Amino acid sequence: MNGKILMNFALTICFFCCCSSGRVIESPHYNVIHVEAEFEIRQYKQVSWISALVQGTASFEKSTQQGFHRLYQYIHGANINSSHFLITSPVTTTIMASTHGPERLVRYYLPSMYTENPPLPNSELNVQFEKWRSNCLAVRRFSGFAKDDNINKEVEALKSSLNKYLPKSSAISEYTVAQYNSSRHLSGRLNEVWLDVSAVTSEGCQRR
Ligand SMILES: *[C@@H]1O[C@H](CO)[C@@H](O)[C@H](O)[C@H]1NC(C)=O
Ligand SMILES: *[C@@H]1O[C@H](CO)[C@@H](O)[C@H](O)[C@H]1NC(C)=O
Repeated sequence: MNGKILMNFALTICFFCCCSSGRVIESPHYNVIHVEAEFEIRQYKQVSWISALVQGTASFEKSTQQGFHRLYQYIHGANINSSHFLITSPVTTTIMASTHGPERLVRYYLPSMYTENPPLPNSELNVQFEKWRSNCLAVRRFSGFAKDDNINKEVEALKSSLNKYLPKSSAISEYTVAQYNSSRHLSGRLNEVWLDVSAVTSEGCQRR
């Protein structure tokens, strides 16, 4: 078990090392709708992801490694076309509001050339193609490494600063951690916590 986790970790490092030098890394496009000192509201449109559901592991770090390991294989040829994909960012982990044990959804952002018809994944990877139509996200940035022992604090801080602006958002329990940088970067790291506030904002992501 430890060996497997170590290997996943090594793969993660390798993934970022070999691919994050020089080239421009694609990220999903969004519009900033509202800005405050501690958070912003963004509208994302038509974002395509490949996602891996991880069940039974409460740890954010472990479930991210497990899910990312499956996504890593998909983008490195374990698909019907044996296609290799460009690296994108961020890698996101959604901590889902489930009543039957922990569920985490790890996502890789599909580069623009694959947004419509990504090659089918090898079935044993159990990864899914997912397309967002339009989403309104409340976003808080934080630096350092995203870890089990700091992500709760960050999402609680986002909720409390959001509370005045969108009081109804306090009922939202599902949240996402977005990691933008390779693990070899020890400083200058960017992470975000996202709360999907689509249900409590109007169509243009404005306050209702
Ligand atoms: C996969 O391969 C098929 C047949 O070679 C081709 O028609 C299709 O466009 C490819 N799909 C992708 C996403 O590259
Ligand atoms: C981390 O990622 C962000 C967003 O892509 C980028 O602006 C920043 O320069 C990166 N940091 C390092 C140390 O590469």
